[in-house]
Amino acid sequence: MKTQKITQIFNICCIGAGYVGGPTMAVLADYNPELRITVVDISKEKIDLWNSEDLNDLPIYEPGLKEIVLKNRNINLFFSSNIPSSIEKADMVFISVNTPTKKKGFGAGFASDLKYVESSARQVAKFSKGHTIVVEKSTLPVKTAQTIKSILEAYKVKGDGEKKSFDILSNPEFLAEGTAINDLKKPDRVLIGGENEDAINLLKKIYLNWVDENKILTTDLWSSELSKLISNAFLAQRISSINSISALCEVTQANVHNVSKAIGMDHRIGSEFLNPGPGFGGSCFKKDISNLIYICNHYGLHEVASYWEKVIVINNWQQKRISRVIVEKLFGNLSEKKIAILGFAFKSNTNDTRESPAISICRDLLEEGCYLSIYDPKVNTKQIKSELNNEQYKKDIFWENCSNLEDALFNADAMVVLTDWCEFNNLDLKKIFEIMRYPSWIFDTRNIIDPYLAESFGFNIWKLGNGFYN
Ligand code: UDX
Ligand code: ADP
Repeated sequence: MKTQKITQIFNICCIGAGYVGGPTMAVLADYNPELRITVVDISKEKIDLWNSEDLNDLPIYEPGLKEIVLKNRNINLFFSSNIPSSIEKADMVFISVNTPTKKKGFGAGFASDLKYVESSARQVAKFSKGHTIVVEKSTLPVKTAQTIKSILEAYKVKGDGEKKSFDILSNPEFLAEGTAINDLKKPDRVLIGGENEDAINLLKKIYLNWVDENKILTTDLWSSELSKLISNAFLAQRISSINSISALCEVTQANVHNVSKAIGMDHRIGSEFLNPGPGFGGSCFKKDISNLIYICNHYGLHEVASYWEKVIVINNWQQKRISRVIVEKLFGNLSEKKIAILGFAFKSNTNDTRESPAISICRDLLEEGCYLSIYDPKVNTKQIKSELNNEQYKKDIFWENCSNLEDALFNADAMVVLTDWCEFNNLDLKKIFEIMRYPSWIFDTRNIIDPYLAESFGFNIWKLGNGFYN
């Protein structure tokens, strides 16, 4: 039976078995064998996949994840659909649910839809016993902790008569997909925001099992939430900055990669996140900047809002101009042409397609009437279908998801490299040239193809940000 005051954490429940909850809890379990961690989800299908015998069936692909799940699953790491009982037993509950951007109503297109966070908070309020520490883990807009707190406080007063109490902590996740396990094992920093020092220390103790104390920052709730938002906004801003310069390089005969290298060697600027590409995707960047814009407008800081808005404007523009270049190069006409799309995930080493630049580029190309043959090593047909198959495209526009590169490229007029998958680094261009239709085009948005080599086999090549190949 749980007591009012918690002096040690034994049981953890994580609500949400997605890209954040799954890997984070797997690593937490690995470093804390004395803890019993249960990850729950409303999707039974997802929980079944987490429990599947064949580890290739895990619902998310993340390098290194399989091994950690195999080592800890059903020892101190459990995946369950029994949400009430897992919350009831937990001393600490992580909320790791999705927070998509609102599609309708006030703040549509900018504010986050907090319905999943709210329902999680209600579940905690209802099923928890005694004292519970609630940790917000998902990427959340600032002041979400306040929402969670209000719901929990309301239950304290109006609950089932049992005495319940809560502490709320913000512990934002900084992992990037594709490198999640490494990011979790060797974090740059761990951030814990909260009001109660005892609760903060209990969470800190869990991290101290593998993270240096000087890397664990503690702060107030709101600063912690805001730091996460701003971190992502700054990273995205760098990408839009270099992408804007990629366009300038193309028209002035410069090479953006040389520029990127030169500026990145200035230690004040640094070299990370200066790779130009088809624009940033993923579930966080656009959503977090949109939230930032929403908050700034709310507080009357319209200039600040419009400054950040431009980061998204450039990101959308980058995707559009790539589609435009492809159409122009292929004589302004895509009908009866086959275009091979290399990579559909928003980045390499993940099967996640949320906000992937491939979605809007593929849609643009489909609208021009071409046939798309898509190849991605980890994204399945169902996923591509859910991103592309809107009613409008169903009738007369076609695409296929190919299980191998050769099928995708056979008889294609062009190949478009959109994701930086490692296996695209060493393409057999000679062989590819033989199976494609002439004139054969390569559109390289990820600086993966050697242009000299491609030209030597007879390809026409366009390289993003390279004024010598456009
Ligand atoms: C991001 C943050 O990095 C992470 O800290 C946060 O917790 C979640 O959001 P993620 O979206 O998983 O992580 O991947 P990230 O590596 O940041 O890449 C985001 C997008 O930016 C990808 O589409 C990627 O291709 C693109 N990108 C990244 C570039 O175009 N150029 C770069 O130099 C870096
Ligand atoms: P993230 O990238 O933030 O982890 P995901 O969409 O991958 O986002 O994962 C979030 C998970 O949270 C989903 O699997 C979803 O089913 C789950 N979820 C959402 N709301 C609830 C809830 N109230 N209770 C349990 N699980 C939930």
